[in-house]
Amino acid sequence: MGAPIEPSPKRVRPLASKDGWAITSSFSVPLLQPEETPTLFDTLVHRRTRRECEPLALNDVLSLLQFAMQTREFGEGDNAGRLRKVSVSAGALHPIEVLVVSGPEVSEPIIYSDDYDTFGTVQFSSPDCAIDQIDQLMAIAPQAKGHLMLLVANLRHVSQAYSQPSSLLWRDGGAVLQTFSLLSAALGYAFVPLGPTGSSLLETLVKPHDDYVAVGTGIIGKAPIRADDASV
Ligand SMILES: Cc1cc2nc3c(=O)[nH]c(=O)nc-3n(C[C@H](O)[C@H](O)[C@H](O)COP(=O)(O)O)c2cc1C
Repeated sequence: MGAPIEPSPKRVRPLASKDGWAITSSFSVPLLQPEETPTLFDTLVHRRTRRECEPLALNDVLSLLQFAMQTREFGEGDNAGRLRKVSVSAGALHPIEVLVVSGPEVSEPIIYSDDYDTFGTVQFSSPDCAIDQIDQLMAIAPQAKGHLMLLVANLRHVSQAYSQPSSLLWRDGGAVLQTFSLLSAALGYAFVPLGPTGSSLLETLVKPHDDYVAVGTGIIGKAPIRADDASV
């Protein structure tokens, strides 16, 4: 095998706005305001993947999603297009977007826009295929009865700033999965990352353009209380 082709900065200013989903309706949810959380240290030490859970209220899922993916600062001037968020991201471009695709109270896929700090619904282009894909993904962890999340990445956005950008998306996707895992642990929720990237599920969505890449799937729910859960 030849040497890997490394990403390299192009030194051009990326676009400030990065999404372009056809949103059919938009809405907000209450901000995440946990009453009591463990310390970061305790969360790091005690975090586990919990494959058994019951569904959360949709608003709780979306509040967590917003907290995890919210932009806390927009770069200006030469830093236009660069964002400050919870997860690490190559060039601070944060190309990952998260959809809640199925679960209680979800009739159409819901996407969080960090550009506008709002949620919107998008549509399936192939609803029957989507149901089939969702069933297959949910069958991977059958005791995890929660909401299904799909992480997608805008390759076009990152390619404006980097040559050979693909591997950057995968690493950014891993960072976002870890954020969901840690945040879920801190809140007493269960988060199960799944093996499939979700590429077949992404194909069933009406997406902005074909340079979107599915980079992860996971199920989030409410973990049952266990005797050994004292600290998280
Ligand atoms: C990319 C990725 C894919 C995963 N795929 C699955 C999966 O398909 N099914 C599953 O039950 N867990 C899956 N997991 C969860 C891991 O199995 C779990 O994190 C691992 O066992 C470590 O356990 P811990 O998270 O409790 O430390 C996945 C995790 C990652 C990061």
